[in-house]
Amino acid sequence: MHILSLTTLVASGGDDGPAFVDAVQRCDSVKIPPETTLSIATRMNMTGLKDKKIELSGTVKFTNDMSYWINNGFYFEFQDQIAFWIVGGKNIHINGGGTIDGSGQVWYDAFATNSTLLRPILLTVYQATDWINFVNEGHNITYDGINISAVSTSSHLAKNTDGWDIYRSDNVVIINSNIDNGDDCVSLKPNSTNIIASNLYCNGSHGISVGSLGQYPGVYDIVENFTSTNVQMHNAENGARIKAFAGPGVGSGIVKNVSFSFFTEANVDHPLVIDQCYETSATECAEYPSNVYIQDVTFTDFKGTSSGKTKSVVASLACSPDSRCSNIRVGDIYLEPPSQYGDATYSCQNVNVTGDAASLFSDCATT
Ligand SMILES: *[C@@H]1O[C@H](CO)[C@@H](O)[C@H](O)[C@H]1NC(C)=O
Ligand SMILES: *[C@@H]1O[C@H](CO)[C@@H](O)[C@H](O)[C@H]1NC(C)=O
Ligand SMILES: *[C@@H]1O[C@H](CO)[C@@H](O)[C@H](O)[C@H]1NC(C)=O
Ligand SMILES: *[C@@H]1O[C@H](CO)[C@@H](O)[C@H](O)[C@H]1NC(C)=O
Ligand SMILES: *[C@@H]1O[C@H](CO)[C@@H](O)[C@H](O)[C@H]1NC(C)=O
Ligand SMILES: *[C@@H]1O[C@H](CO)[C@@H](O)[C@H](O)[C@H]1NC(C)=O
Ligand SMILES: *[C@@H]1O[C@H](CO)[C@@H](O)[C@H](O)[C@H]1NC(C)=O
Ligand SMILES: *[C@@H]1O[C@H](CO)[C@@H](O)[C@H](O)[C@H]1NC(C)=O
Repeated sequence: MHILSLTTLVASGGDDGPAFVDAVQRCDSVKIPPETTLSIATRMNMTGLKDKKIELSGTVKFTNDMSYWINNGFYFEFQDQIAFWIVGGKNIHINGGGTIDGSGQVWYDAFATNSTLLRPILLTVYQATDWINFVNEGHNITYDGINISAVSTSSHLAKNTDGWDIYRSDNVVIINSNIDNGDDCVSLKPNSTNIIASNLYCNGSHGISVGSLGQYPGVYDIVENFTSTNVQMHNAENGARIKAFAGPGVGSGIVKNVSFSFFTEANVDHPLVIDQCYETSATECAEYPSNVYIQDVTFTDFKGTSSGKTKSVVASLACSPDSRCSNIRVGDIYLEPPSQYGDATYSCQNVNVTGDAASLFSDCATT
């Protein structure tokens, strides 16, 4: 076993990127000790690795040179993302409890005035297998005990800061982690199968989200076998959510076998959501129902309080007409709005809800 400790790179003042990539390619095990900061000014391609250990106890800090990253980051077409660092290969372990710092503040400030800015992603796990934020075409990947913080210190909110995005990936486990951000906590993008997102504390986020799916015409999106249990969701826009596009000129797909359970929520705008008319007006949704079918979904053991943003509404199951949602089950739901809004309202449309708590959703509108 060849171990290299990267303390020697410190204080070079320049770019530690090439030396870090070189070290990981040449050695089985690379250590970044606690007091060490690697300053990275160029993109890092660590793909095609095999049996590697990176003990990241110090800090990997990317420069705030936005124009460099925009012009040179690894580009991923899906939602216009650029990655600073890609890691791929077989049997790779990154641990050590260290920090990856993307200098997010300059990006949050720029998003405030530039809505077409590319979305920066610190680390993309690319075509990796057997591994431990963008998981793209990955298999058998585990994230355990990760803290993510993407909080703006200026008046500009942190934007596009998803904790984890899973895309075209199978067998991904995200457990025992804390996320403090302003976008999705965990998001399952198209073709995410056999995924677990459990034992999580999410603060300030957009929640645990399946979708949005069915956005691109001619593309079929699959989310199947997803479990999310034991989640603390605080100060968030959503708790557990499934969203799919409807309307003319969109895509299609299936959401199948999804289970959300033991969610404890506080100050959440929409604690429990299915939105199968995402970004589509009611009239358009009636004429062009979503082609993303949603089936075999359970929401059980939900408790806590909403923010009151939608007054007394604490849960909303809004499906497209024409039986596009089936076998939606609910049990043990104890969600409350802030006291000034009185009793909780459970809203639903075009869905036949079953389970112990089905009576809460007994008054569904049909369109
Ligand atoms: C990364 O490096 C590998 C091996 O050198 C190369 O084959 C691959 O094309 C590079 N990937 C990207 C996205 O540039
Ligand atoms: C993650 O955050 C938790 C709670 O704030 C803290 O106890 C833990 O030490 C942190 N872990 C790391 C690796 O920073
Ligand atoms: C917005 O960001 C993009 C790069 O993502 C860039 O091409 C464009 O020039 C920027 N627009 C403004 C107004 O700065
Ligand atoms: C993922 O793990 C399963 C079960 O251990 C194994 O059968 C499969 O080959 C692995 N997939 C890849 C791409 O390594
Ligand atoms: C949670 O987010 C709120 C803002 O929404 C912030 O004030 C608070 O410090 C955060 N708490 C933790 C533990 O991250
Ligand atoms: C998802 O997988 C299906 C079946 O393999 C495929 O037809 C479809 O193109 C994939 N969609 C995406 C977004 O990769
Ligand atoms: C549903 O998914 C879970 C894992 O999330 C799996 O254990 C279970 O077997 C799946 N059920 C069916 C009917 O496929
Ligand atoms: C979902 O889980 C079931 C039961 O384990 C399995 O038979 C099925 O193949 C899984 N679906 C996918 C897309 O992996």
